[in-house]
Amino acid sequence: MPPQNGSNSPNGSGRPYIDCKNVVKAYTVGDHEIVALRGIDFTMRRGEMVAIVGPSGAGKSSLLNLLGGLDTPTAGQLSVGDLNLLDLQGRALADYRLRQVGFLWQQVGRNLLAHRSALRNVTLPMTLAGLGMRERVSRAKELLEAVGMKDHAHKHPPQLSGGQQQRTAIAVALANHPGLLLADEPTGALDSASARQVMELLASLRERYALTILMATHDMEMAAYADRTLTLRDGALGQDLTHAAAETPPALDEEGRIRLPAAVRSHLDEAARITVEIRPEGVLLRPEQDIEDDTDVLLQDILPRKHTNGAGRRKWRFWRDGRANAEMRR
Ligand SMILES: Nc1ncnc2c1ncn2[C@@H]1O[C@H](COP(=O)(O)OP(=O)(O)OP(=O)(O)O)[C@@H](O)[C@H]1O
Ligand SMILES: [Mg+2]
Repeated sequence: MPPQNGSNSPNGSGRPYIDCKNVVKAYTVGDHEIVALRGIDFTMRRGEMVAIVGPSGAGKSSLLNLLGGLDTPTAGQLSVGDLNLLDLQGRALADYRLRQVGFLWQQVGRNLLAHRSALRNVTLPMTLAGLGMRERVSRAKELLEAVGMKDHAHKHPPQLSGGQQQRTAIAVALANHPGLLLADEPTGALDSASARQVMELLASLRERYALTILMATHDMEMAAYADRTLTLRDGALGQDLTHAAAETPPALDEEGRIRLPAAVRSHLDEAARITVEIRPEGVLLRPEQDIEDDTDVLLQDILPRKHTNGAGRRKWRFWRDGRANAEMRR
């Protein structure tokens, strides 16, 4: 499926499948209020796969929990398909969680019950939904086959590898034919080969079962499987990085020139000057507004000095238009 154009919006006509309007989520902890989501606006069309990337604490899980009906927003509107999630209560809410939405969590232990076989993990949501035994078993077998776990149907989770457990968890999530799959860092606990296998599987199941998938991840390689990638930082949606991956990748030529991706350039656009600094943890590019800025001097006092490499801490500053290149020693 081709990437979608435009930020935070579906590219199709008609009503979006997911509609999130000015969603705020605040948690009260003792006397404090923690605002995890600060007015999130975004839509998804049916069948779309969107990745939400953002640092720890950005609010990714909070957003997925709201969409899964596991928590309620403090303010805003939230609808999935024809359902206004804020109207759902009691049995209707339980039904939404059981039939309309599937969950895949990073922690394997949260996805599967260790004392049940893979097959009985997959049949469990169907039992809760009231399906007959024959149908449960036949559908569970079909799903286990679809995720490549047919030969392990009678094993218990501790007998399976992390990747196998996560593939079984996908079968569990899809047990009651949900239209929406919410995946919270589904590959976060896997090695890179298993992670890719899980993402390939999600991509193929999405076609086969007409799924809409919203996935939180830290990993841009996993996000590349999605049609769109949205960034979440401090509870607010930022850039749409959809086209970042399609862009020419960064490169360093023989004369030391680096071609930076647009997502990096956008951080430097407003700066009068840019500082390049060799630091113990790597090379830092920092935009600077104020010529007399003395943050660096302050930082030098705060940062640890003992791990500097052989060359020590060195810094260059240059104007964006290239004039007056200056080298400063530290
Ligand atoms: N149940 C809760 N009670 C209080 N604060 C919470 C709760 N859940 C999340 N938070 C706070 O809300 C903010 C967003 O947390 P959230 O778990 O949504 O972030 P995240 O992007 O999923 O992070 P991570 O990548 O570490 O999973 C954080 O400051 C977190 O401490
Ligand atoms: Mg999280």
